[in-house]
Amino acid sequence: MKPKHFITTRQWSRPHIDRLLDLASTLKRAPIQPLLGGKTVALVFFNPSLRTRTSMEIGVWQLGGHAVVLEPGKGAWPIEFADGAVMDGEAEEHVREAARVLSSYCDLIAVRKFPAFKNWAEDRQDLAIRAFERHATVPVINLETIEHPCQELAHALALRERFGNLQNRKYVLTWTYHPRPLNTAVANSSLLIATKLGMDVTLLCPDERYLLDERYLDAARQQAQEHGGSFSIEHDIDRAYAGAEIVYAKSWGALPHYGDPDAERAIRDQYKHFIVDERKMALTNNAAFSHCLPMRRNIKATDAVVDSPNALVIQEAANRLPTQKAVMATLLNTHPKQPAGTLEAAHA
Ligand code: CP
Repeated sequence: MKPKHFITTRQWSRPHIDRLLDLASTLKRAPIQPLLGGKTVALVFFNPSLRTRTSMEIGVWQLGGHAVVLEPGKGAWPIEFADGAVMDGEAEEHVREAARVLSSYCDLIAVRKFPAFKNWAEDRQDLAIRAFERHATVPVINLETIEHPCQELAHALALRERFGNLQNRKYVLTWTYHPRPLNTAVANSSLLIATKLGMDVTLLCPDERYLLDERYLDAARQQAQEHGGSFSIEHDIDRAYAGAEIVYAKSWGALPHYGDPDAERAIRDQYKHFIVDERKMALTNNAAFSHCLPMRRNIKATDAVVDSPNALVIQEAANRLPTQKAVMATLLNTHPKQPAGTLEAAHA
């Protein structure tokens, strides 16, 4: 049985992910379908967005539904998440009420809430979306917390469109420089989806301080074993790029210095050479390049790489639309009910 929520792909089996991608391919070819007719979706954004907000709003509209965007602390009341909190600060209401009230109006609740970047031991619990999951009575979609499962699907669809079969493709997730420490969500998600799809995955990062949380390293090892791929960690740039078929770039903060960007700056500033450039890409097996966007040009990747025919960044961003529509229709059971593979075959 499929999960009730789309919070992490760790809870979604490989056949369920394949079905979502099949349906997304169908919806990409035939975008206007009344799969959400009469349905409403709350889009709760605690953080900025270009792609996620636009693709969700348009996606709901294309499926015949209606989306309401809420920005707590801006046009909606600030929300408290801690159980037992004495609410004498900024928050005017508790998620216990907010989630239940939104559930009474809406058929789906989608939430973007980045971590607080103060204490990883706390942030790694993903408390906000887990509170929505606990208190909502309708399905909840993660629009990026400490994972970004919607980005995973868009990335996977772009790779499937480029390569077809992804089994044992040589996939490199490379850390890149950025002037400040960023969320680990997309990097965590990259490992989750690449290993679930059976690729041979290498995590390239400057040193052990930039390793991702053990939860995601463990999940990558376990999924690699389950799905016939592999997972390794590399700190040598040239060794990691050699023969790669896919290079996925992302910057993230060093977890041992989480919440202390000044201490981390001196370390990260040594690693500006992790930029994805033509020399490194020349070491690959004509690799596809991608990034979740937004991306600082000539900091994370050079213009030549981003503008090359091998870059999938725009295609991946465009795929947010059909993949999220597939997630919404699947969670609400309004999708056509074919087994994995048949939707794709039916439209071949
Ligand atoms: N990749 C992504 O989620 O983009 P936005 O932050 O613009 O939504």
